[in-house]
Amino acid sequence: MIICAIETSCDETSVAIVKNGKEVLSNVIYSQIDIHKRYGGVVPEIAARKHIEKLNIVFKEALETASITIEMIDKFAVTYGPGLIGALLTGVSFAKALAYYENKPLIGVNHMHGHIYSNFISHPRLEPPFICLVVSGGHTHIVDFKGHDSMKVIGKTRDDASGEAFDKIARALGIGYPGGPVVDKLSKNGDEERFVFPAAGFSDNEFDFSFSGPKTAVINLIHKMKSRGEPIPVEDVCASFQKSICDVLINKTINACRHTGYDLMCVAGGVSANSYLRKEMPVKAYEHGIKVFFPSIEYCTDNAAMIAARAYYIKEDPGYYLELNAVANLKID
Ligand code: KG4
Ligand code: ZN
Repeated sequence: MIICAIETSCDETSVAIVKNGKEVLSNVIYSQIDIHKRYGGVVPEIAARKHIEKLNIVFKEALETASITIEMIDKFAVTYGPGLIGALLTGVSFAKALAYYENKPLIGVNHMHGHIYSNFISHPRLEPPFICLVVSGGHTHIVDFKGHDSMKVIGKTRDDASGEAFDKIARALGIGYPGGPVVDKLSKNGDEERFVFPAAGFSDNEFDFSFSGPKTAVINLIHKMKSRGEPIPVEDVCASFQKSICDVLINKTINACRHTGYDLMCVAGGVSANSYLRKEMPVKAYEHGIKVFFPSIEYCTDNAAMIAARAYYIKEDPGYYLELNAVANLKID
């Protein structure tokens, strides 16, 4: 089964060819980060226009790298949400045109499900059930992954997503975009114990998150130091913030896993590339007899291979074809 998947939900134009759900024959990604950097965040209209410009080129390169012809593709798959509506529509339209031209099935894939499936690519023997922490620029969810047709959100952020919090404090510190990778890098030389940026808890759902508190605490600290004319200890702020955010992610996900009785956890989404999380989570989880899987770094941020991997497990006829539309706020469950 050869699936060709298309991903254009945000600022990466990606096309992948994946065999039998796990064997990645090609995964071509054109990143627009350098274009959006100068605006300090993704500009939706520019993202959509760039996707249109690049989709043909990225698709052709994906076929060439996989050494296949278009006729060898069994199914097409495309991210139809959640994401930026204009960006999503470019990929959905492109995929529809291909499926129509080739007279092949078209599968719509939920981008967040795709992130979870990056773990099935990196760990081919992974089997449900497990708890998955999904952490990206727009999402922070704890998902009870019971099986390929059964995913349930048991905790989520009530304000900022974790990746968004990284991006916002990086902007306040003036260290660049996207914030996560820069904060991660600067943290390596910082003192993570110097500041404490506590996150709120909730009595009605212990698995829910709130990151606006630590984010505001960082912004207030910066303002205070600036107004006193003190130099900002950027590396210490980054390291302390990273620790505060990641410790909450680690503790709540472990608690959720213990609550369900599973002995397996996965992490997915852009923030799963974070080095503190990748180092500390397995150590803490091990103390509770829980094993943790992370996707390999190349599959942490947006890519089409994970979309193809998810599409492979959607067996039934989804009941649409050329009627497929983009849904900006598509839910996980
Ligand atoms: O999954 P993704 O590529 O796009 C979305 O679907 O949102 O995630 C992007 C997010 C950004 O907020 C970025 O700052 C964050 O992932 N990110 C990181 C790291 N690498 C990317 N956050 C923390 N540490 C990192 N190393
Ligand atoms: Zn994503």
